[in-house]
Amino acid sequence: MLNPTPTQGDTSWFVHDRFGMFIHWGAYAAAARHEWVKSTEEIDDATYQKYVDHFDPDLYDPKEWARIAKEAGMKYAVITTKHHEGFCLWDSALTDYKATNTPAGRDLLRPWVEAFRAEGLKIGFYYSLIDWHHPEFPIDGVHPLRNHPDALEMNKKRDIRKYAEYLHGQTRELLTSFGKVDIMWFDFSYPKLEYKGMPGKGRDDWQSEKLLKMVRELQPGIIVDNRLDLPDEMADIHTPEQFQPRGWVHVNGKPVVWETCQTFSGSWGYYRDEYTWKSPEQLIQMLVNTVSCGGNLLMNVGPTARGTFDDRAKAALGVYRDWMRLNARSIYGCTQSEFTAPPDCRFTQNGNRLYLHVFAWPFRHIHLDGLAGKVEYAQLCTTPARSRSLNTSRRNKGRTPTRSPWKSRYASPTWSCR
Ligand code: GLC
Repeated sequence: MLNPTPTQGDTSWFVHDRFGMFIHWGAYAAAARHEWVKSTEEIDDATYQKYVDHFDPDLYDPKEWARIAKEAGMKYAVITTKHHEGFCLWDSALTDYKATNTPAGRDLLRPWVEAFRAEGLKIGFYYSLIDWHHPEFPIDGVHPLRNHPDALEMNKKRDIRKYAEYLHGQTRELLTSFGKVDIMWFDFSYPKLEYKGMPGKGRDDWQSEKLLKMVRELQPGIIVDNRLDLPDEMADIHTPEQFQPRGWVHVNGKPVVWETCQTFSGSWGYYRDEYTWKSPEQLIQMLVNTVSCGGNLLMNVGPTARGTFDDRAKAALGVYRDWMRLNARSIYGCTQSEFTAPPDCRFTQNGNRLYLHVFAWPFRHIHLDGLAGKVEYAQLCTTPARSRSLNTSRRNKGRTPTRSPWKSRYASPTWSCR
């Protein structure tokens, strides 16, 4: 079995827990057209301000969010403390652009941290390196003002070093005001994205090395992601986004600790009119596929501007809740198996327990290669009865497996080990 390259941050709990909740929540929820709306629609600050002035999450109940996450089997949660729009959920001393100065009138992050911790979930902070509101942040190819006729001229008055001071200061606030923080999730770098003579941004702009040093000093053991544009080995977790790897993620030829982040419907922030919601089957298969390749799944919810999970998100989380209630043991503590799963199946493995996930079994029998004589006992997770038709002896190698003796022809696969 593969073991990932050791990390500086404490990833021991992380590789056990496997399943987390991502939360994208900010003023963009009021526009309800993707968290990038300010950039994609090239909205200036004055026009965007209406979303901030009317940000009034009157139904916000972080205890309910935490309960739903826990019920879905999620063991940790990462929330956008500030996304690219620059709006802060906490009462930062370094800006006025924050939840306290909206009709919400209060710090929205603190009760979130308390509620999730109270449910026993670990806490992660997403923090956007990008900031489309800060006056010192130079306009670039992803900035809402990128096509402004005076963009280059405006940039002459913007100083990335001053912005970097702000970014370091805010990170310090986040890591000193909320107790133990388990994950710091920075997003993102694009050093090669040059647009109309405006360069992208990376490690020199963020002063990433200094930033990472501070993070590790302030919160020893914290897990840090790989989006600071630093050498790969300085990151604890590697984060393929909206992408399902087909094997253990390797970086520079070595297996690493990895987490794929995924959405229910394509967008991270609340997008009311998006109709590409994933099917229940797809949701479960994403989790199984991820763990069967030795990774974690960070599944995103984009709450509404009133502070609720919309019904479609609740239904999707309910799919995980119902499935995890019976199958969590095939996720927690599990990793990629040393055995190769049969077609249309996946294995997850925890020590000497092997879990077979059957995505399809059109012939009502499954051949488990390499397991003859090795299986002491087999049972179904969903209806925890022993599989009487399991045929594990070497003598049966090559023989046609017996038909399931069970009443329902479709409920119990017949297995044979070869
Ligand atoms: C991208 C997007 C961002 C989202 C993130 C999640 O970097 O810019 O909107 O928050 O991915 O991984």
